[in-house]
Amino acid sequence: MTRPFNLSAGPAILPPAVLTRTAAAIGELAIPGDDSLESRLSILEISHRSKSFDGIHHAAMDLCHDVLGIPRTHKVLFLQGGASTQFAMVPMNLRQADKAACYVDTGVWAAKAISESKLFGETKVIASSGPKHDHIPAMPGADAYAGASYVHLTSNNTIFGTEWEQLPALEGDVPLVVDLSSNIGSRPMGIENVALGYAGAQKNLGPSGVTVVFIREDLVERRGVGPVPTMLRYATHVAEDSLYNTPNTFGILVLHHVLEWMRDNGGVAGIAAINARKAAALYELLDASALYRAHAKPGSRSRMNVTWTLGGATDAEAATKRFLSSAEKAGFSGLKGHRLVGGCRASIYNAFPEAGVTALVEFMREFERTA
Ligand SMILES: Cc1ncc(COP(=O)(O)O)c(C=O)c1O
Repeated sequence: MTRPFNLSAGPAILPPAVLTRTAAAIGELAIPGDDSLESRLSILEISHRSKSFDGIHHAAMDLCHDVLGIPRTHKVLFLQGGASTQFAMVPMNLRQADKAACYVDTGVWAAKAISESKLFGETKVIASSGPKHDHIPAMPGADAYAGASYVHLTSNNTIFGTEWEQLPALEGDVPLVVDLSSNIGSRPMGIENVALGYAGAQKNLGPSGVTVVFIREDLVERRGVGPVPTMLRYATHVAEDSLYNTPNTFGILVLHHVLEWMRDNGGVAGIAAINARKAAALYELLDASALYRAHAKPGSRSRMNVTWTLGGATDAEAATKRFLSSAEKAGFSGLKGHRLVGGCRASIYNAFPEAGVTALVEFMREFERTA
């Protein structure tokens, strides 16, 4: 049986070469040039303090700079607790006395970040795409966020399928904090404007359980307003090089493999060109269709999560059910839209092949023709 096309929003598809390398490392690490005993053991059973793991850990950090374009002025961290823990760590650590935290609300994940911020103090929503969240709002001028502790936004809205074209360069001395979970490394987007960024690895970078965080060095010593538990301080993890406690050693190995795969496949710029073609093929189909309706407006459309409804059908719900069940039978896994918005979603992250998009477009055309 051929492998299904994996369109899951996350945990998501990984490059086949990464799966093969990872499977081998579960048997025996076998790191070239490493003659230590650990190198002859499984990645699942070696110490995070071993020389073998240290090499993987630091190589992965270097690749975050060299492949993802994270500036060398920023410290890269591999943390746990997902992006959701960052929703709390950001306000706990970066909030300054009497300075509001500013947020752009572009949907479910942004709203969760906003709720966490409210636990710690004044939180201003300076722009919103609600209630439909079908577009990215215009970035307000500097007056809206002058004197703020920071401005937070979500670069790609996994659930609604909208995406910032470019990450804004803020005016004044206000740090930009970005949740990059679902489009990190997918194209050049102004990552150099980000003072603190974070991404759960499970979409474009690896498996769940490791969160890539990067923080500009001058922000590390910010202490927040109230007491912050040791484990939740950026300064703790920076001081210990992400080895304060036992990290997700397996997740970091897979992240390392993914970053090498990206480097060997044209880097972010090369992958971006393929991602642009993949997304264009799907949106072209949706815009030309009498059955499917793209959720996101042109100019705000995600190249990672393409969302649509079967708006042209008389009974949209029944048609969606039929569509999803035929898609499953045809080998397309994970097309069901998020439970909060319904409809369909194709998550076409970096590792999703262009041939898979071609096959999906053909399937959707045929479904519409025979519907
Ligand atoms: C944009 C975005 N932010 C945050 C999250 C939450 O991530 P985690 O489950 O790693 O906490 C997700 C999960 O899908 C996401 O898509």
